[in-house]
Amino acid sequence: RRRTRITHLQRMKERGERWAMLTAYDQYAAEIFNEARIPVLLVGDSAGNNVFGYETTLPVTVDELIPLVRAVTSSAPQALVVADLPFGSYQGSPEQALGTAVRFMKEGRAHAVKLEGGTEMAPTVRLITQAGIPVMGHVGFTPQSEHALGGYRVQGRAEAGDELLAAAQAFEDAGAFSVVIEMVPAPAAARVTQALRIPTVGIGAGPDCDAQVLVWQDMAGLRSGKAPRFVKRYADLHGALLGAAQAYRADVEGGTFPATEHSFES
Ligand code: KIV
Ligand code: NA
Repeated sequence: RRRTRITHLQRMKERGERWAMLTAYDQYAAEIFNEARIPVLLVGDSAGNNVFGYETTLPVTVDELIPLVRAVTSSAPQALVVADLPFGSYQGSPEQALGTAVRFMKEGRAHAVKLEGGTEMAPTVRLITQAGIPVMGHVGFTPQSEHALGGYRVQGRAEAGDELLAAAQAFEDAGAFSVVIEMVPAPAAARVTQALRIPTVGIGAGPDCDAQVLVWQDMAGLRSGKAPRFVKRYADLHGALLGAAQAYRADVEGGTFPATEHSFES
């Protein structure tokens, strides 16, 4: 099996074939998702609230994210690995964005980068793609703009659907190979997916996108507590890991671990 390339994703859109994307931030998750034939892995700045313990993605830095990208690219030989550009590392100018993207490609060994925004990002996307770096856009609800957007809320309702389409179209026209659409009404995402030549990747954007993405800890039920409406849980890793840790603790406290088979003879 060969590594997934952006050309494969484009061909899949033309054939009407859907594909799945997951986030990954470390070796074992990357190995398992590669084995599960997830073609595209995203090292998201969602590492902020899924790895680093921050409340949002905003504090995540380039220096924090690069080692995670490196771990995922080393561990997923067949996946196309996309690295998120963190808040503040690309909005200053196209040149700043290119510098950051180059670091993710050289130091992280990423295969593509992702950035959030709208039509204002077109010159940035053009500069990065002209340097030979594939770019994935991210429109709709863009978590790095949470405070400007007034919190976690559905975007692209009613007339805002036109703005959503314009943003996605601007990414395509500037050379992006794909665009994530987050938390918008299903019909609005369907309209964008029909209009665009490049594949759309939905998260909370209904069933008509060309691809879907979820944060893996949400998908696998590692995260405890209430998940957003758009999450489907495919496992209970929280319960599994909690049970294992409790059993281990009980064994140690009761003196039943380690047993003879875990111990060395003289
Ligand atoms: O950081 C992230 O995980 C993302 C996806 C949810 C698209 O941007
Ligand atoms: Na992100």
